Amino acid sequence: MSRPSWTPEWKALEDLAQQQGALHLKDLCLDRQRFDLFSWRSGALFLDLSKQRLTQETLPALFKLARAQKLEQAIQALLSGAPINTSEQRPALHTALRLPADAELWVEGENVNLAIQASLEKMAQLVERLHQGQWRGVTGHPITDVVNLGVGGSDLGPLMVTHALAEWRPEDIAPLHLHFASTMDGSQLAERLQLLNPETTLFIISSKSFSTIDTLTNAATAKHWLVQHLGQEALVLKQHFIGVSAKAEKMSAWGIDPQHQLTFWDWVGGRYSLWSCIGLPIALQIGMAGFRALLAGAHQMDQHLAQAPLESNLPVLLALAGIWNINFLGMSAQAILPYDGRLKYLPAYLSQLEMESNGKSTTQEGELVDYATCPILWGELGPNAQHAFYQLLHQGTEAVQCDFIAPIRRYEQIRDPQARHYFQGQHRLALANCLAQSRLLMLGDAAVPDQHTQRDAHLFYRGNQPSSTLLLDELTPSSLGQLLALYEHKVFVQASIWGINPFDQWGVELGKKIALSTEQALLGQTQMAFDPSTEGLLALCLSSDPL
Ligand code: F6P
Repeated sequence: MSRPSWTPEWKALEDLAQQQGALHLKDLCLDRQRFDLFSWRSGALFLDLSKQRLTQETLPALFKLARAQKLEQAIQALLSGAPINTSEQRPALHTALRLPADAELWVEGENVNLAIQASLEKMAQLVERLHQGQWRGVTGHPITDVVNLGVGGSDLGPLMVTHALAEWRPEDIAPLHLHFASTMDGSQLAERLQLLNPETTLFIISSKSFSTIDTLTNAATAKHWLVQHLGQEALVLKQHFIGVSAKAEKMSAWGIDPQHQLTFWDWVGGRYSLWSCIGLPIALQIGMAGFRALLAGAHQMDQHLAQAPLESNLPVLLALAGIWNINFLGMSAQAILPYDGRLKYLPAYLSQLEMESNGKSTTQEGELVDYATCPILWGELGPNAQHAFYQLLHQGTEAVQCDFIAPIRRYEQIRDPQARHYFQGQHRLALANCLAQSRLLMLGDAAVPDQHTQRDAHLFYRGNQPSSTLLLDELTPSSLGQLLALYEHKVFVQASIWGINPFDQWGVELGKKIALSTEQALLGQTQMAFDPSTEGLLALCLSSDPL
């Protein structure tokens, strides 16, 4: 495939950007048709790109670039299980994890959905035992608390979804509290252990590779805590640990009972794994039916990706708006701004999804890119960020593309009319702020006519900051599944256009290796020479703490 930046389609977009450079969003939105022209719906999601700096010429030119980069073929390769993760010679089959139970997907002579459904079935059995209060610790008490020990994709996805969908907990299940500990320094785990009862606590060791030091250290500490309180190491291992991994032999070597092991496959990338048994905490939180509804929502978006023409394909449109901003308007930052407290962990989740996938500078052919790829992506709940970094969005020197995300309906299930009235008022307030902020970013001072008379420079709002607005009819397992799959596919579409592999992450490996020798130095067990800066810091640590 040719480099995108060498194609005539890329050149045409550069020319367009130059011609349109002076256009301000406040001028573009004089067109009353703009909202109809630049907004689309798929399932429970509504995507509005009318606040992007797109014109009726830009989108067709972007579609031409996408076609020149063979996007339609790339989508087909993804969904059919072709080995598109070339540096690891395997497919990226997270979409297979959400196929309907009776669907078939044949990859290298095997219907992969059979193994997927069997894994879901085993997961359902474990969930059922825990929900029925039938899983007992070594002293015979039912498990009441489950701690997920994992990091990266083995933490962020389950954490984000269990938080987002906490209200979807079935009423008829035994009380089960979910906790997450990821940090290798043990501080999150230490905080949890202080509050937990070892007799009624179960740990999930969640690690695709089952070799991630962060997770294995937390697991070792958890095991020590249990054995210290309960003795009976063999029984503790059997009754207080579940393992979730692609490496069954490593789980067995650690001591996890094979019946309490859930396995998945190398072809599920870590940051795409919440749909596999890595999603066990989600199923524990919302039940298997809820988990399956999440999968079905994601599948609905997969279908949309596969079937909708590029011109009305939400992941494609979202991706192309990003490409326009990054590659042709020169923006290198993106903010994720959900206006719903339940989506608190979405920015962190999307940071991994986008930056670990597309934070690359070599093409699939091994050449250095000569164009920008993934922007720096961060975020926060919008209402809180308004009191923190929105100052920079409105008046800083950086151009930032923003994603505003909110459900339209909220709190309808509250039975007490008084309480519903108050909470719905709060939601209305959040929605109003969401719409007002994106409008102000777009129009600047022009959003408030009187503001024009103001002369003081520090009161000036320049506007012209592009944003996308994503509205969900309401936040449900299905709509969240659609939303997350939308972002996964957006990342894939951008990677396809940039010609990079979004499914590997070689850039995180070397740091893990050199941390090992650095730890040896902190233990005083190496004569290895370091650079002066690291040696200075090591000496300081060694002199002040008997490590
Ligand atoms: O270090 C990065 C990474 O490999 C991520 O890609 C992954 O999600 C995370 O570590 C955890 O990996 P594992 O599930 O193998 O413990």
